[in-house]
Amino acid sequence: MVPASVRTILALETSCDETSAAVIVDGRDVRANVVSSQVKLHAKYGGIVPEIAARAHIQNVCPIIEETLAQSEMTYDDLDAIAVTAGPGLVGSLLIGVTAAKTLSLIRGLPLIPVDHIAAHATSAALVTDEPPWPAIALVVSGGHTSLYLVRDYLDIELLGQTVDDAAGEAFDKVAALLELGYPGGPVIDRVAKDGDPKAIDFPRTWIREPHSNFSFSGLKTAVLYHVHGKGRKYGELDHLSKADIATIVASFQAALVDTLVAKTIAAARRTGVQSVVVGGGVAANSALRRDLQAACDQAGLRLHLTPMKYCTDNAAMIGALGYQLAQAGRFGDLRLEVHGGLRRPKPKKQRRK
Ligand code: KG4
Ligand code: ZN
Repeated sequence: MVPASVRTILALETSCDETSAAVIVDGRDVRANVVSSQVKLHAKYGGIVPEIAARAHIQNVCPIIEETLAQSEMTYDDLDAIAVTAGPGLVGSLLIGVTAAKTLSLIRGLPLIPVDHIAAHATSAALVTDEPPWPAIALVVSGGHTSLYLVRDYLDIELLGQTVDDAAGEAFDKVAALLELGYPGGPVIDRVAKDGDPKAIDFPRTWIREPHSNFSFSGLKTAVLYHVHGKGRKYGELDHLSKADIATIVASFQAALVDTLVAKTIAAARRTGVQSVVVGGGVAANSALRRDLQAACDQAGLRLHLTPMKYCTDNAAMIGALGYQLAQAGRFGDLRLEVHGGLRRPKPKKQRRK
């Protein structure tokens, strides 16, 4: 069923380890955005366990929807459509959100809008800009993805490049795990790095000056591993490091990663000639990235639109915002909707590592 007009959307996001629902009106007016994080469930394993994530989504999804409707002071009768993340993400997790969305679509007679999670991160900054900031270079940095896009409009998004190995957030999480700082690693490293000298250790900034938009962070992660263990030490042996040593290591690691993200984002804007940069995804919450990207954009004469912190990590508001744009373009799904787990991306060309 394709409605005459869609204004009020209930959006669901369950692609990874956050169960989230939002009610959004006209694509910008977020009436409620409820996020239930599973961080505590996964922390003791040092990373997300897909089976546990899926089970938690099953338990959470209905109460979260009810809570979202209550907070927005709406009922199912007020809704015009259901938007849902269809991928990429963990298949078991995606299936819970998509099944809930299909069920509501069927029993309430509401149209279904499948939304791509990465495209939602890439356009999330527009939730709070006065005008749509397009065309813009979008840096999407999260636990699962690190990519640069040219966003010409909400529905015209071109992939310029991406990581060929670890995502930026994954590198944060793995370095934090190596130093036994806890999970998720990004927020802890952000905090601990404030006490360390970011220039103390010269970690690699892979492809920082190469004329393409791909990233590689596995070399950086390995360099941190060698630095921590040196010769002859086993994984997990950390007694030789003081608190100050650890602060220095994470500050230098963070600086290498942030320098790379900033330089490649500015270079992509120069190459494409756009005047705006937007940033989304969990790692966009990083304080060094926010500060350095702002300084670099100011220097390059580019407008920077940072996604507000609450819309950086996974949330349903960004799904509803992009869902609204898709609905205006008539891009609805139906009950045959399937999830897609992996990133649908072209294989990057082989590149020489520096
Ligand atoms: O977007 P997100 O919530 O989930 C995915 O779609 O992956 O991103 C989660 C990632 C984690 O790797 C986490 O360590 C990272 O975002 N993160 C941060 C910060 N806050 C969250 N990384 C660096 N600095 C932060 N302040
Ligand atoms: Zn995400």
